[in-house]
Amino acid sequence: MLEIRPADLQGDAAYKLLCGIVVPRPIAWISTRSAAGISNLAPFSCFTFVSHTPPMLGVSIGRRPGSFKDTARNIHETQEFVVHIGDETLLEPLHRSGGEFPPEVSEAEQLGLELAPSKLVVPLRVTRAPVAMECRLHKVVDFGNNQFFVGEIHLFHIREDLAVGNKVDSGRLRPLARLGGPNYSTLGEIIGMTPQAAQSQAAQPGPRKGVVSRG
Ligand SMILES: Cc1cc2nc3c(=O)[nH]c(=O)nc-3n(C[C@H](O)[C@H](O)[C@H](O)COP(=O)(O)O)c2cc1C
Repeated sequence: MLEIRPADLQGDAAYKLLCGIVVPRPIAWISTRSAAGISNLAPFSCFTFVSHTPPMLGVSIGRRPGSFKDTARNIHETQEFVVHIGDETLLEPLHRSGGEFPPEVSEAEQLGLELAPSKLVVPLRVTRAPVAMECRLHKVVDFGNNQFFVGEIHLFHIREDLAVGNKVDSGRLRPLARLGGPNYSTLGEIIGMTPQAAQSQAAQPGPRKGVVSRG
């Protein structure tokens, strides 16, 4: 086994290591609005949910030398953002929205993505995204050269064909995930297992018949 001490790593080597190890990462495609009223859209894969009651999302945004990324600056200024989940059909614009656009340029406009008003927050929503979550800032915590933004979700928008009761069918969602380098993945195989409670009584625990599917 290779042994690597972070103290021995130079430049962004630790970042590259982590990006290849912590995979696949879901991607928060975040829409914000600057105080000047310019819409901004950018992807962030250092992303998870941090609470379900109330529902809260967390995303880590790196600092640029001497300045904030537009998304971070806009959230500091307005306290609001919309987190989208991009599906396979959105790979190209999602990837391109991670390029460095000047603050006065709207990525969505440049990429030909239609935006619609949100219901409870000012930042707009990408209409083609299958899921959009309207968030208000709850807390910002500094970690090294990054800031971790926690937002409380005040409204979920979920495309109707994805909903099964109050749940989302992940297979139908076809979300994009990020790997190391400029690489992405799709969901691949879904393996259904017996729920833990049922498993303790079942004679033969293991994958449920008929639920293994290939994406
Ligand atoms: C798929 C993808 C995931 C990314 N994840 C992150 C991330 O988690 N944190 C981060 O700071 N930058 C991340 N980036 C880079 C930002 O998207 C990039 O710096 C972008 O220019 C920021 O835009 P903004 O200045 O409009 O906020 C990611 C880029 C891509 C394409």
